[in-house]
Amino acid sequence: MKTTSTIQEYIASHVDMVEAALIQALPAKWDVPSSLRESMNYSLMAGGKRLRPIMVLAAAEALGGSQAAALPVALAIEMVHTYSLVHDDLPAMDNDDYRRGKLTNHKVYGEAMAILAGDALLTQAFYSVTRAHREHAIPAERVLAITEELAVYAGARGMVGGQAADMLGEQGLTKLEELEFIHLHKTSDLIVFSLRAGAHIAGATEAQLSALTDFGNAIGLAFQIQDDILDIIGDEQKLGKPVKSDEKQQKVTYPYFIGLEASEKKVKELTLQAKAALLQADLANPERLLQLADYLMQRDH
Ligand code: IPE
Ligand code: IPE
Ligand code: MG
Ligand code: MG
Ligand code: MG
Repeated sequence: MKTTSTIQEYIASHVDMVEAALIQALPAKWDVPSSLRESMNYSLMAGGKRLRPIMVLAAAEALGGSQAAALPVALAIEMVHTYSLVHDDLPAMDNDDYRRGKLTNHKVYGEAMAILAGDALLTQAFYSVTRAHREHAIPAERVLAITEELAVYAGARGMVGGQAADMLGEQGLTKLEELEFIHLHKTSDLIVFSLRAGAHIAGATEAQLSALTDFGNAIGLAFQIQDDILDIIGDEQKLGKPVKSDEKQQKVTYPYFIGLEASEKKVKELTLQAKAALLQADLANPERLLQLADYLMQRDH
């Protein structure tokens, strides 16, 4: 496949595709209390970079899989990610007032509805995954693998475990390995899931899945280190969320441990490492994933 468009154009066209489908993810004909529906859609449609769904689609494409069939799984991970942000912003967690350039969910709908919108987004994600089989005839065995991995990478062993360790870590982390554990789970795991799920849609081999896992762990860690850097030196307008949130919550971060410059160097090293791992994977079209890794390294929001 020729990659004639720039990575920015590629991202923009995929964002459009994801957003057009996302708005219909909670069927209009379902009888849902209107404030719950509104609260879910408020956070889901608030913008955001849509990186995880793009990774699902890019991984499926990298293996020559169907984009249409990968789309419901792409929506699922964006729902899980969005729920994690709604809960992450709650007063009991990071207590932030802005997200994706808008007031946080609980500031608009109240804490109870924000918690419930998060719960419903998480549940709806599993429904969306089933659409890959029901509407796109992806073999049930592949959809079962995706379902299992969504539970593992998003749950106690994955993102939620990372968030729990992050909350506990506020009481004082002393080792860089403890921080790496937090980052690998709260952030890398949803990225690893996205890549593997796109690959499952295309019927990936174990070797391909394993290389994508290494790629995802490394770019996920780089992504969270960059997030920690931007929390210090980023522009609130561009980020759409407050800076200095980590300091306010007394979070121990990479820049806190090793300094800004060493953190920036680490982001570059991890990106190189990620790209090297991906090249082991024997993918039909790895270009977009390689470009995405470089794009993320340079991001300012
Ligand atoms: C924010 O994720 C939370 C982290 C894991 C750092 P993103 O930076 O992908 O947030 P959106 O989706 O673009 O809002
Ligand atoms: C949260 O990390 C990652 C999630 C699983 C939501 P942060 O707390 O650093 O994310 P931001 O900076 O609020 O987006
Ligand atoms: Mg947090
Ligand atoms: Mg936060
Ligand atoms: Mg942050």
